[in-house]
Amino acid sequence: MSAPGPWWRDAVIYQVYPRSFADGDGDGIGDIDGIRSHLSHLADLGVDAIWMSPWYPSPMADAGYDVADFRDIDPAFGTLSEAEALISEAHAAGIRMIVDIVPNHLSSEHVWFKKALADPAAPERELFWFRPGRGEHGDEMPTDWVGEFGGTTWTRTTDPDGTPGDWYLHLFTPEQPDLNWEHPTVRAEFEDILRFWFDRGVDGIRIDSAALLFKDRTLPAVVEGRPHPFHDLDEVHDVYRAWRRVSDSYPDRALIGEVWMPEVERFANYLRPDELHAAFNFDFLGCAWDPELMRACIDRTLDAHRAVGAPATWVLSNHDVTRHVTRYGRTTTTFSFENNLDGTPVDLELGTRRARAAALLSLSLPGATYVYQGEELGLWENENIPVDRLQDPMYARRGHSRDGCRVPLPWSGDEPPFGFSTAEPWLPQPAEWKDRTVQAQTGDPSSMLELYRSAIALRRAEGGLHEPHMTWLPGAPGVLAYARGAAFACVLNMSPAAVPLPAHRSVLLTSSPLDGGDLPPDTAAWLRLAT
Ligand code: NOJ
Repeated sequence: MSAPGPWWRDAVIYQVYPRSFADGDGDGIGDIDGIRSHLSHLADLGVDAIWMSPWYPSPMADAGYDVADFRDIDPAFGTLSEAEALISEAHAAGIRMIVDIVPNHLSSEHVWFKKALADPAAPERELFWFRPGRGEHGDEMPTDWVGEFGGTTWTRTTDPDGTPGDWYLHLFTPEQPDLNWEHPTVRAEFEDILRFWFDRGVDGIRIDSAALLFKDRTLPAVVEGRPHPFHDLDEVHDVYRAWRRVSDSYPDRALIGEVWMPEVERFANYLRPDELHAAFNFDFLGCAWDPELMRACIDRTLDAHRAVGAPATWVLSNHDVTRHVTRYGRTTTTFSFENNLDGTPVDLELGTRRARAAALLSLSLPGATYVYQGEELGLWENENIPVDRLQDPMYARRGHSRDGCRVPLPWSGDEPPFGFSTAEPWLPQPAEWKDRTVQAQTGDPSSMLELYRSAIALRRAEGGLHEPHMTWLPGAPGVLAYARGAAFACVLNMSPAAVPLPAHRSVLLTSSPLDGGDLPPDTAAWLRLAT
């Protein structure tokens, strides 16, 4: 059954993190060749689109989110012609392609920044945020802004004569200088980059750190209650209106923003009809495993999106956050960067049970659903990576590393590297993943992989799951129940006791076995209703 309306309104979008998907050339790092030879996994899973995390030439100071050239591919991942081949092969398999564009900053190895550093009089200097320091000798940073990873946001340059020079702004690492979005060259360049990838058949663009682009040029301090100097400045919307014009000049393209924003109204501004098509739902991702909070989050999400006519998105994990099997197995089940729960006790069995139920929730709410690679295998966060193997620049600044959710996928076999590579993977895989390989789970009806395959197949086939809305059904305390159309319902039991199912004609799928016909705790069921 095909969905009404454009694909991006209710697609299942699978995030490929190329370093960790599959390694085709035996160097321990995933690459395009590996992705091409495992495309059948994504076709079997039934996803509608792939979002590819950055694959461009990069010194990898931030795992590729420090881009040196947006029009090429890093040699560790392959070549531009291999990328083009992957796009065609994905299309032939019925899978659309979304690439990741990082507009807030470039790599310090980008030609613009190299020219800007080499000569204080270079015109490229204006494309970034170079400023003199404060204090008599200019040796104090222009502001005390704290970076998005923690840490400072300015680095001092050295002039060609060897004397200390201006400082440049970087909201992330010093290897990621921020662009000056007030400059027309920056705007024109990115519009051209969008066209470059749209011309290569790419169906969508994921926009990194989408709310950060503009800075208050008076460089005020961050003061509670005053407008933030670099979060969500109004000027950013002009950029996305221009990008929307570019994407609208191609058929069926989508812009998807990474917008971390606690205020839902400000979040929804990015989704006005002439701006982005969709944005990631971090409210849902960070929500506790709690029936009232979850229900309120779903309502908040749907209300905010309805107001601007945009589809909601449902996201449980990505390459930046603790994997949700681990999150849901902790006593505190929320996620936030500020509240570091690393190393706190995890009940993986409970986390897995909840993750299975969450899969049926996220795949049956109205809107698009994102699946982060490995979540379909039930992978958990690897919290046991030796410190000397950690690569994430966040670790030094915040004491939390995102590497634990970026560990290479287990494909087959009984021990690492589990078919990921013929070499040692760039990050170590837990030996316990031998039960979580694609090979081990295929054909096992109780596996996470078969649950995802069945759920995504049903999602396509069930008319109700293409209805644009949901309606809450009455449920016992701690139970979330909703209908999609007249014939489909999802029931999620977040209470501590088994509950009877509402009247139904048949059970389509459950995340864990029923208990004498009742729905056990931390279990979801998809039902065909009697109509
Ligand atoms: C958000 C990305 O998802 C993250 O991985 C990256 O470190 C920052 N933006 C900076 O580009």
